[in-house]
Amino acid sequence: MTIPALAPVRSAVIPAAGFGTRFLPASKAVPKEMNVVLDRPAVQWLVEEALAAGVEEVVCIIHPRKAPLVRHFSPVPELIEAARRAGRPAVEAALRRLEELAGRVRFVEQSEQRGLGHAVLCAEAAVGDAPFLVLLGDALVRSRTPCALQLVQARERLGRGCILGLEQVPRRLTDRYGIAAGEPTEIEGDWRITDLVEKPTPAAAPGDLAVAGRYLLEPEVFERLRTLAPGKGGEIQLTDAIRGLIGEMPVHGLVYEGKRYDIGSPEGYLAACIAFARRDPRFRKVVSASVFAKC
Ligand code: UTP
Repeated sequence: MTIPALAPVRSAVIPAAGFGTRFLPASKAVPKEMNVVLDRPAVQWLVEEALAAGVEEVVCIIHPRKAPLVRHFSPVPELIEAARRAGRPAVEAALRRLEELAGRVRFVEQSEQRGLGHAVLCAEAAVGDAPFLVLLGDALVRSRTPCALQLVQARERLGRGCILGLEQVPRRLTDRYGIAAGEPTEIEGDWRITDLVEKPTPAAAPGDLAVAGRYLLEPEVFERLRTLAPGKGGEIQLTDAIRGLIGEMPVHGLVYEGKRYDIGSPEGYLAACIAFARRDPRFRKVVSASVFAKC
């Protein structure tokens, strides 16, 4: 008997249509996914991470009010020309690289904010009948191996099925996350998921492993999402759809290497800026202890 080849992961979805209420009023005109970390907006870091995982196309889910995301990925040849004339080769190269990325990004509208699950469902036609990555638009991960690539590599080990990026969180914070229950497998960091609960109280949480901003999903999740009733907060929850797949196909969790930053809140955003700067030779000096002391 021949084992069917594993379908390649060709697309990534970035849900970025949410209201961003935790970052209002800043996110009123500038979507939180456009928050600048060092020299580029969060969404560009995410597109770069997705492409580093080997996908061909990135599908960005936006609301009609989120036009700045579309503008960021629209070609503006005058700016490249201006950078060239001003003798700024690094800026010119960065703009040319952005144009290359832009060729791989497409936008799909979610006109009503009905939850993360609904946002992912909006990508169905673009993704088709194939496995795909999901990178939350407000979650940046600093890691040695790009986080999305870690999930794709895990799939090569584990075979067909869903894989959820996991992070251990303090028990008192379980009501902010989808929490997984499961058993560790023989591979370090890898869990076989047996249950998922959306934002449980610490007392009701089945553990302290949270679903943390990255997913690798099989297309069957769309079927689930189409028929799902609204869950917690009256929203269509991605966690509920994945929960429905447990028992039907393998659902694994991967405690990924790296640190996640929630750039959807002012505190998380500030932490991301400092952490990214510390690890970048261009910006390290600015956040060194001695410079901070003088601020
Ligand atoms: P969040 O729940 O963190 O985003 O969703 P939010 O609703 O914008 O945030 P707050 O709580 O009001 O501050 C995670 C990601 O999913 C997207 C968001 O844009 C965010 O990047 N999302 C959420 C959608 O695309 N559509 C939705 O209906 C909800």
